[in-house]
Amino acid sequence: KPSLIKTIGKYALYSGLASVLAGTGYVSYKLYKEKNPSPQKPQSATFENGSPRKTLVILGSGWGSISLLKNLDTTLYNVVVVSPRNYFLFTPLLPSTPVGTIELKSIVEPVRSIARRAPGEVTYYEAEALDVDPTQKTVRIKSLSSAEEHAEINLNYDYLVVGVGAQPTTFGIPGVFENASFLKEIPDAQEIRVKVMNNIEKAATLSPTDPERKRLLNFVVVGGGPTGVEFAAELQDYIDQDLSKWMPALSKELKVTLVEALPNILNMFDKSLIQYAEDLFKQEKIDLKTNTMVKNVTPTVITAKCGDATEDIPYGVLVWATGNAPREVSKSLMTKMEAQDSRRGLLINDKLQLLGAEDSIWAIGDCTFYPGLFPTAQVAHQEGDYLASVLKKQYKIDQYKWQSSQNSAESSKYQAKIERLQSNIKAFKYSHQGALAYIGSEQAIADLAVGESMYQSAGSFTFLFWKSAYLAMCLSFRNRVLVALDWCKVSFFGRDSSV
Ligand code: FAD
Ligand code: NAI
Repeated sequence: KPSLIKTIGKYALYSGLASVLAGTGYVSYKLYKEKNPSPQKPQSATFENGSPRKTLVILGSGWGSISLLKNLDTTLYNVVVVSPRNYFLFTPLLPSTPVGTIELKSIVEPVRSIARRAPGEVTYYEAEALDVDPTQKTVRIKSLSSAEEHAEINLNYDYLVVGVGAQPTTFGIPGVFENASFLKEIPDAQEIRVKVMNNIEKAATLSPTDPERKRLLNFVVVGGGPTGVEFAAELQDYIDQDLSKWMPALSKELKVTLVEALPNILNMFDKSLIQYAEDLFKQEKIDLKTNTMVKNVTPTVITAKCGDATEDIPYGVLVWATGNAPREVSKSLMTKMEAQDSRRGLLINDKLQLLGAEDSIWAIGDCTFYPGLFPTAQVAHQEGDYLASVLKKQYKIDQYKWQSSQNSAESSKYQAKIERLQSNIKAFKYSHQGALAYIGSEQAIADLAVGESMYQSAGSFTFLFWKSAYLAMCLSFRNRVLVALDWCKVSFFGRDSSV
């Protein structure tokens, strides 16, 4: 009946308007809250009951440390964050930045704005931890902003959290440090962008028959883990979707080569997804060289072993993504304790306590080695969350210890409470949600954990899922909006090809 249709239409219109209003209200509220954090409690040396406020030093501003900081009740400790990087970096979207799919500013969040939103004051030092003395409970730090003579100071701690991540490994292969770019931090992405754009412009000045032009236009990525694969995919997208319009002839000469030592790329994914990714790379004309191990690098040529044969691959830009190695500060800490006898990372127990300094140091994220825990953002993030809850219990334990020391008549009562709380600190349990990777041409692969089972999915729909998962994972609402706008900008205007 027309009147019924009219009524339904009216309700649909009203509910549509209400949703738009609610959406706008929510967005405005989130933006207002991010711009105007609630007042912070100033920190004093003691609590109201006279007990001393313990000092918690957190090293690093990456996935592990920032996840801890975001979840920690910072009123319980005198919290000091030390990191040479004054921002958090959302690494999953870093491979999209050198070619301009995502702007660098969209995936960083300043430490100070994260610290300012914590309930109690947090001190931040833009400095690098050089050395930890677990016996004296001190960390020697080197400020990046002070004059040379004031640059190094010693910080005392009661509790220390080491979340310094890892550095790219080269396996000691000659020439890698001098000639390759890594893809770990913002300056790396900027360096790759400059090299790619400069090579394209340099090649354009040379004759098409000049072998130097061919070399300049060969972009080689070494390491078929997710970093190498995602970057190779982004590079090929840039060539096919943007450069082909502005430099049609030259874009056909560009070649992306991905070199992997093992028989397959993306070895942590299900076999069906590996096959899918390798087939897509073939279609996209990415030159996939598996079973090929790089042995030497000069400024213009990579020498690789493929079975018994040796191959020289001339290159213009080389991106090196062969995994992680411990940082200097972690290596120095390892030498201080007998229990630290692995070269793969700091050894921890199932409560993330550092072996050899269980009472005062925790270590989280890529700087650690523990069987079954991989160097991923997912692991570091969950470890940071877990540690925030442990530190809340630790505060209560310390309070009971102090009360017991003030009132010896009741010490057995407090001791019982302490033991109950200590047994309440359960081991860290990692919950694997699955793995995602972008493989180019607006396609992604997903190996998803649902309960005990794993489900695989690949293609364009998975790409939409990949996008929404990463948007949801962004640290702040501001990051989420900026990343979404970057994707819209690229689909309307394409990628920017200036340096
Ligand atoms: P980081 O996040 O590396 O943070 C380490 C922090 O310590 C940094 O702030 C650094 O400045 C600081 N630091 C360094 N040296 C010192 C020092 N001497 N003193 C004090 N501070 C120091 N994982 C996923 O799960 N999903 C993904 O999609 C994904 N994509 C990735 C893409 C790329 C390109 C890369 C490189 C990694 C990716 N990862 C991903 C892995 C993930 O980024 C790491 O596992 C994660 O960052 C580890 O967190 P972390 O806190 O241990 O270290
Ligand atoms: P990786 O360790 O995962 O892969 C490195 C690859 O380089 C390996 O496949 C190895 O066989 C190869 N390799 C090593 N030496 C070589 C040589 N000389 N010549 C040729 N190939 C060589 O390293 P990656 O990709 O940097 O990842 C580091 C960590 O970050 C991993 O734990 C990974 O899971 C995580 N990560 C996760 C992502 C995701 O989930 N989408 C994205 C990026 C990283």
